[in-house]
Formats: sequence, C-alpha cells, structure tokens
Amino acid sequence: MVHFEEDVGKAARFLAILPSFMKRIAGRNATVIDKRVQQCLDYLRPAIDDRMAMMTRFGKDWADRPDDLLQWTIDEVVARTQGPEEVARMVLFINFGAISTTSAAIIRALYDISVHPELVNTLREEVTVEAAVAEEGWTKVGINKMRKLDSFLRECERHNSPLPVTLSDGTFLPKGATVVTPTLATHFDEENYSNAALFDPLRSYKSDKSVQPRLTITSPDYVTFGHGKHACPGRFFTSDELKAMLAYIVVNHNVKSEYEGVRPENLRRGLTNYPNDTARVLFRKRQVG
Ligand code: HEM
Repeated sequence: MVHFEEDVGKAARFLAILPSFMKRIAGRNATVIDKRVQQCLDYLRPAIDDRMAMMTRFGKDWADRPDDLLQWTIDEVVARTQGPEEVARMVLFINFGAISTTSAAIIRALYDISVHPELVNTLREEVTVEAAVAEEGWTKVGINKMRKLDSFLRECERHNSPLPVTLSDGTFLPKGATVVTPTLATHFDEENYSNAALFDPLRSYKSDKSVQPRLTITSPDYVTFGHGKHACPGRFFTSDELKAMLAYIVVNHNVKSEYEGVRPENLRRGLTNYPNDTARVLFRKRQVG
C-alpha cells in the first residue's frame, strides 16, 4: 500500500513532464502501477475468492456477512460486473487517500505535543484516570471518551492546515486552472476563531460533551476534511486511529522536542503544507510504579 502511494507520486511527476500524446503509453509501460495492483491482488485474492464463494452459495446477505471495506468494495465490483483486479484497484485507491494524510497528521500532533510538555500530563490523565481506558479499555467507546485528545487533534489540524489559499469569488477560471479550498485562510480567520493564531489544544474541548465539536465534524469554518457531499469518508477511521496512537504514546512515554520549545516548521511543497520530514522528537519511556 505504501509503495503504491509512493509510486503514484513518482509516476504523476514523471507523466506531468511528458506531452499528452505520450502519457497513456508511458503510464502503462514506464510506471510500476500495474505491478503494484497485481501484488495487492495476490494478497487479497484468497479473501476475495472466499467472499465470492459465500455470495454465490448464500446470495447477497448470508448470516455473518462481514460489514467491512472489502465487502463493500466487492459488492460494488460485482454490481459493475467487474473482476477481482478492480477490487484491488479500489482498495489501493482508498488507501492512497488514507496513508500519507494520517501519517502527516500524527507527525503534526507529535510536533505540537513536543512543545507543550504539560499537555502530555493533561492527555495522559484523561486517558488513564478520567475513565476512558480505565472504564472502557482500549475500545472504540473508550476512544470516544477522549475528548481533550480529540480537541487537541482538531486544533493540530486547524493550526497546520494542509492546504493554503487560492481564489475564488466569481473570478473566471480558465480550463486547466488549479482550484483549491482556502483551508488556511478559513482556519485563521478571526471571524471563525478568536485569537486564531494561538495554538490552544483545548479550544474545542467542552465540559458538556453534547456541544463539543469533534475532530470529525466538518463545517464551513472547519474544512480539514472538506465539507458537504464529498467530505472525507475516512475521517471517522482516521480519528480513532490517531487518538489510539496518541493515547498510547502519552500513556507510555514522555515527549519533547529536539530543541526545547521549538516546533519544527511545516514545509510547503507546491500548494501543500507538509510536516517537516527531517526534524526529531525525543521520547522517554515512562517508569511506572
Ligand atoms: C488526517 C487524515 C485525513 C485527511 C486530512 C483527509 C482529508 C481529505 C480531504 C480534504 C478530502 C477532500 C474532500 C472534498 O473533496 O471536499 C478527502 C477525501 C477523501 N478521503 Fe480523506 N483524509 C484523511 C484520511 C482518510 C482516510 C483514513 C481515508 C480512508 C480510509 C480517506 C479516504 C478518502 C476518500 C475515499 C476521499 C474522497 C471522497 C469523495 O470524493 O467523495 N481519507 N480527504
């Protein structure tokens, strides 16, 4: 999955410099994408064959039919009368949107936490003492109770918005123009956030859980995951994943930045804002008991 994502990036950069009439042939012959699809299919085929066999034998809704991404993908591919290769393509495509986004988010969070050492205690307390894991264990319900952690992640995403500003206000957009949503401007607009430049990890935390805007809640003033019809469908998954990783880290480690109090600067690549990929964060395993 990870190699596929890297290869698509490389292929895109390579194809971008070729004239259009060469792109199709070069895309097939000079990139390794098809090989990655085959590799993915090798992994998935036994599972796909099992599911297909169950579908043939028991119809669409057999007892214990898995309710997971693989099954939804197979359902879609069967409805389109396509084959297993298409399942592999879809799974790769979905993971394409899932991996670098989530890795970047955990790096941003680690950089942010490394310059707020006091925050480690606040979050750790919530995870271990204030019931989350203590009451529910490492479960989805437990993760759902980590509301300070949720607020912290929401603030990390607001403050390090992945895409900076470009247009549009009715301006004519010629064919081929690049259009992006103004995430950074939205997240730093004082009309949306008071003291917007301030990183406040508990900005969204509310003692009344019914009014706390969660990391997964999109709105016109919180567009990390887009908003509306095409808002990121992976945001619930990524939220649980990020919270589980961070909760584990703060419970088991102390974290600080390499240069005390200095957060590694984000890097701009084209229109995208990436977390610094060479900076270091220091971890010390906690001595408990
Ligand atoms: C921190 C992590 C993530 C961020 C910041 C993020 C962000 C986004 C954004 C901004 C969009 C475009 C929304 C729009 O067009 O308005 C999007 C779409 C999408 N994301 Fe994510 N995403 C993340 C994680 C994931 C994960 C984990 C998955 C899959 C498991 C995923 C799957 C998708 C898919 C399939 C779309 C296309 C939706 C559509 O066009 O209808 N994303 N994401």
